[in-house]
Amino acid sequence: MNEHVKVTDTTAAAPATKPTVKAVPMLPDAQTVTEVQHYTDRLFRFRCTRPASLRFRSGEFVMIGLMGEPHPETGKQKPLLRAYSIASPSWDEEMEFYSIKVEDGPLTSRLQHIKVGDEVILRPKPVGTLVHDALIPGKRIWFFATGTGFAPFASLLREPQTYEDYDEIIITHTCREADELIYGRELIEGLKDDELLNEVIGEGFWKKIKYYPTTTREESAKMGRITDLMRSGEAFKELGVEPLNPEQDRAMICGNLAFNLELKEMFEEYGLEEGANSKPAHYVVEKAFLD
Ligand SMILES: Cc1cc2nc3c(=O)[nH]c(=O)nc-3n(C[C@H](O)[C@H](O)[C@H](O)COP(=O)(O)OP(=O)(O)OC[C@H]3O[C@@H](n4cnc5c(N)ncnc54)[C@H](O)[C@@H]3O)c2cc1C
Ligand SMILES: NC(=O)c1ccc[n+]([C@@H]2O[C@H](COP(=O)([O-])OP(=O)(O)OC[C@H]3O[C@@H](n4cnc5c(N)ncnc54)[C@H](OP(=O)(O)O)[C@@H]3O)[C@@H](O)[C@H]2O)c1
Repeated sequence: MNEHVKVTDTTAAAPATKPTVKAVPMLPDAQTVTEVQHYTDRLFRFRCTRPASLRFRSGEFVMIGLMGEPHPETGKQKPLLRAYSIASPSWDEEMEFYSIKVEDGPLTSRLQHIKVGDEVILRPKPVGTLVHDALIPGKRIWFFATGTGFAPFASLLREPQTYEDYDEIIITHTCREADELIYGRELIEGLKDDELLNEVIGEGFWKKIKYYPTTTREESAKMGRITDLMRSGEAFKELGVEPLNPEQDRAMICGNLAFNLELKEMFEEYGLEEGANSKPAHYVVEKAFLD
């Protein structure tokens, strides 16, 4: 019996010959939490069951959430949903999400307390621009993230197509503090020992990855905003590559609005054109959160 369904026994009302045990989800589009891991007082990840019918492309996002509080007069409850990048790859049997905890955030002030066995709502309608289909072929792909903007790249770094399409993958992650890099770093380090991916994609596939984490407000091995480090040329020198060019480089950006806009401006200077699902080009952008 699937654990994430409630069982309603209706045998008394039905003919004895028919098995009539009916599975009824507790919530609309309910999925069951299977794993929760906290990284800092502002960041955690969780995994949950995957709707059987859900197909998505690595890099897309869905709406997830919890049931809202009952209306004080009517007692009615409405789902409280937010956009979330799917952090797991398209082939994964489960879904993974990497989340912020906003102290007074309507959703995450509650979502941060979920435990294994709890239910979350997951609307099975994936969308998004951070997909391979929105890029034309190239040699090298760059993933640029700030904060929880790492989430879609957690999916794409575990997606075989990423390694089939590109010779080199560069992932930059800029956060305020060092502990905010842990999720990304552990995920990338874990790829080396991932037997399934090494078998499916090819032994040592992870050697194609160059990881460039930086912090801005706490001491770490590399300090500074990635945008500044690119402008000064330091990032390119340390990565051992030339600045991006439209012939070989492709890029995906996921961060706060100012970060996205700043990188877009830099890319236009490099001669890269923004792509979309309907019109693939050199780079694509998505917000890691609104405002
Ligand atoms: C396309 C898209 C994909 C997203 N994917 C993710 C994801 O994978 N993981 C995730 O944690 N959030 C993601 N978000 C943000 C998410 O939708 C919610 O805003 C977040 O879960 C907080 O919800 P809330 O109701 O608690 O607070 P909200 O009322 O939604 O937000 C309150 C304030 O918190 C800040 N904030 C919100 N989200 C973040 C964040 N992720 N990082 C830093 N500050 C934030 C903003 O200043 C915002 O005004 C995504 C948003 C968009 C538009
Ligand atoms: N992270 C925390 O510890 C913390 C704690 C309490 C509250 N908050 C609040 O939560 C919200 C989100 O914080 P966040 O840290 O998750 O996300 P964020 O403010 O988007 O910052 C994430 C990283 O992106 C960098 N960045 C911001 N704008 C950039 C740009 N234009 N170009 C290049 N890099 C850029 C930041 O550098 P800079 O540091 O140089 O801006 C930081 O290293 C904010 O409203 C913040 O006030 C955050």
